[in-house]
Amino acid sequence: MVSSSMTSNGASLSIVFDRLRWEEKELLEKALRLGYNARLVDAKDLVFSTSGIGKGTRAGSAIDGMNLGDVVIQRCISHYRGLYITACLESLAIPTINGYGVAETCGNKLLCSLALARHNVPTPSTYFIFSAEKAIEMANNLGYPIVFKPIVGSWGRLVIPVKDREMMESIVEMREEMPNPLSKIYYLQEYVRRPPRDIRAIVVGDRVITAVYRYAAEGEWKTNIARGGKAEPCKITKELEDICLRAAEAVGGGVLGIDIMEDEARGLLVHEVNNTVEFRGAASVSSVDIAHEIVSYAMRVVRA
Ligand SMILES: Nc1ncnc2c1ncn2[C@@H]1O[C@H](COP(=O)(O)OP(=O)(O)O)[C@@H](O)[C@H]1O
Ligand SMILES: [Mg+2]
Repeated sequence: MVSSSMTSNGASLSIVFDRLRWEEKELLEKALRLGYNARLVDAKDLVFSTSGIGKGTRAGSAIDGMNLGDVVIQRCISHYRGLYITACLESLAIPTINGYGVAETCGNKLLCSLALARHNVPTPSTYFIFSAEKAIEMANNLGYPIVFKPIVGSWGRLVIPVKDREMMESIVEMREEMPNPLSKIYYLQEYVRRPPRDIRAIVVGDRVITAVYRYAAEGEWKTNIARGGKAEPCKITKELEDICLRAAEAVGGGVLGIDIMEDEARGLLVHEVNNTVEFRGAASVSSVDIAHEIVSYAMRVVRA
């Protein structure tokens, strides 16, 4: 599916998606309103080939004559689909938001935690383990509750506060039966004592454009908006701004959703950085036009 506008101030923008959400429609609307030649491109229709690559020209197109324009905002829900499309786009010298390295780091919780730690961004203590036996042993040694997470995933899916040894053993047993090799990489994180909320901040380039508290839904522990969490405005203090910009820099920068917990003793801790940030919840309580900011940033990337 491709929709476009003839209204143009010269620059063109593609928004690549695999499931059309409110965010992608909002990005298109704001881009058109700014006068850009903008279109939605279904990732499932794309085909790339080696033939347009490495000829010293800005080819700017996938095969099938689909011109992707001057810049692409990559919005796929599937991490791997988005990641590999980004690799193809970058080989065609099409600026893509976010870049391949950023997408790779943010789409994988292990790589993201390593990047945060390398850059001394405060983050929960996290352990990476590569066998079932050692995972159970580590959880028993660290004590319960402890948080288990799949290294690739979102919307809080399969993020589990593990209550005891029996539960840990069941999780490991299930994961060992799964065919995906990533299921056997174990990511364990300390259980952070936090209020029933966390903070989602949105960084665009070198600015924190907005931040919201996300309150967990009734009976829920996870605060994800996708699980019924409610957004409320959150003031961007100097401390919050600082930690968000450091986290963004740690993963390579771009348009990012920073997830932060408020630890009772240590203050702010960044637990993950999201690559294709959902912002409907934040937009519902923020005075900032988030889609407008993202599109404006994309156009600055083209002109840089
Ligand atoms: N270590 C933790 N301690 C306490 N709560 C956590 C911890 N890790 C995650 N959570 C809760 O679970 C939610 C989802 O975890 P997160 O790591 O952000 O995964 P996802 O990528 O699925 O959003 C967080 O927003 C937070 O509410
Ligand atoms: Mg999250």
